[in-house]
Amino acid sequence: MSQAHQGAAAKLQGDSEYRAMFQSAFGRDTITIERIENALASFERTILSGNSAFDEYEYQGHRDALSPAQIRGLALFKDPLKGNCAACHTIGPHYALFTDGEFHNTGEGVGDDEQLADLGRFQVTKIDADMGAFKTPTLRNVAVNGPYMHDGKLKTLKDVVDFYAGGGNSNPHLDKRISRVALSGRDRSDLVEFLKSLTGEIPSSVGPPGGD
Ligand code: HEC
Repeated sequence: MSQAHQGAAAKLQGDSEYRAMFQSAFGRDTITIERIENALASFERTILSGNSAFDEYEYQGHRDALSPAQIRGLALFKDPLKGNCAACHTIGPHYALFTDGEFHNTGEGVGDDEQLADLGRFQVTKIDADMGAFKTPTLRNVAVNGPYMHDGKLKTLKDVVDFYAGGGNSNPHLDKRISRVALSGRDRSDLVEFLKSLTGEIPSSVGPPGGD
């Protein structure tokens, strides 16, 4: 909310509509930052996306759910010697979250001087290995969720794929799973096509309040 925690809680406390909603959710109308966090986390846990073309292909055996380009893209995504994307954006035998839930340094946000603009996970843990590391985001619905990366610097999926193909930006903390990979023009567009197959159904309640 672009302000300190205390200010945010006080602002909501001053709003009778929010007081009533906190009363009904928590049994108390005292608005604290912990309750705000609980409310946001509960809401976020309802934002599930599923039943995408990828799910139909991978888990329901619908061989025609993906186009030939998307099938090639999926193979590149999984191939450790090609995209190696699934090393972090996990695809399991029975379901796929497209994240390992871990923090990695992809080099995104590093300038030509190899300096990190944002220290990332290090700010919380103070562990050297976490310098410039960010949590692997899921890739579900990624085609409709640009711009990309923690700083929104990469505007399109093609920009992201080109970034990875270049081996990320070099810096002393770069994750060892990020390396320059030989991806032809067709490989790159196949990967982008594959990422589009991850757009699935999401609950209608997801969106700004008052939206439809
Ligand atoms: C070493 C782990 C790792 C590997 C390998 C990896 N990624 Fe990522 N990916 C990440 C992390 C961490 C982020 C978030 C970086 C940030 O916010 O700066 C990310 C972000 C992304 C995003 C942006 C998502 C968003 O919502 O902003 C896309 C798209 C993506 N990766 C696709 C790929 C593709 C395609 C490949 C393979 C060519 C790949 N990733 C390989 C860890 C990885």
